[in-house]
Amino acid sequence: MELRIHGLHASIEGKEILKGIDLTLPQGEIHALMGPNGSGKSTLANVLMGHPSYEVTGGEVYMDDIDILSLEPYQRARLGLFLAFQYPVEIPGLTAGKFLKRAAELRLEDGGKLNVSSFIRELRAHMDFLEMDHQFINRYLNEGFSGGEKKRMEMLQMLALQPAFAVLDETDSGLDIDALKIVSKGVNSLKGPGFGALIITHYQRILNYIRPDRVHVMVGGRIVRSGGPELVERLEKDGYDWLKSQAAAEHAKV
Ligand SMILES: Nc1ncnc2c1ncn2[C@@H]1O[C@H](COP(=O)(O)OP(=O)(O)OP(=O)(O)O)[C@@H](O)[C@H]1O
Ligand SMILES: [Mg+2]
Repeated sequence: MELRIHGLHASIEGKEILKGIDLTLPQGEIHALMGPNGSGKSTLANVLMGHPSYEVTGGEVYMDDIDILSLEPYQRARLGLFLAFQYPVEIPGLTAGKFLKRAAELRLEDGGKLNVSSFIRELRAHMDFLEMDHQFINRYLNEGFSGGEKKRMEMLQMLALQPAFAVLDETDSGLDIDALKIVSKGVNSLKGPGFGALIITHYQRILNYIRPDRVHVMVGGRIVRSGGPELVERLEKDGYDWLKSQAAAEHAKV
């Protein structure tokens, strides 16, 4: 499968944030998305998943030949799209275990039935893999979790749902070195022909553990540069100024 974004424009509260995004992510590849604060990375992630606050004003997003922009978020999830949030929400009153079970049920086609005992067995194996205490699934989702624990919970969701495409929005932010390695291990364990990932990050760190096939840079709601992993090193060294001025010059021409 292929996730294809073409000419995507999106606004929030009447303000245009995405100004024509083109990006193709085939399964089997890992892409990194970098860019300054406020450039629209999370907006793209949210629009892909179908967040209702954003208005898509142009362009298209396809998973193979399916136009996903007309689908509800749960239908996109059912097709295999997954988003790990930059700021996971706390849901008091809903245990993490119930949430994961419900999410797994919703991923099944209509009428499909989840085998609960094997689901729980797999969940425990995933928790061991992520070095998480089994008690986490009895706690209310993300309530009182540390920043790093919330990110690890996002990775547990990803492993439990086995998505076709995962968008990870700054899953590496706020992680200690050990947690960063564990999160990377989680992504790398899914790596293969049936999995594609878009890793939104500010730092080279995580990309030392998860080698991206392509790197895209977003500035001002546009992808202004795509390249190989060497682009990350240039950004780490020189920052974004050279791309910002280039992007401004090109935009002025249009
Ligand atoms: N509800 C809103 N009303 C107005 N502007 C908004 C709203 N939500 C987001 N924005 C604006 O959209 C722009 C893009 O935000 P977004 O969160 O996508 O950036 P980002 O690239 O993810 O940044 P960061 O690296 O800091 O996470 C920002 O200027 C932000 O202020
Ligand atoms: Mg963001």
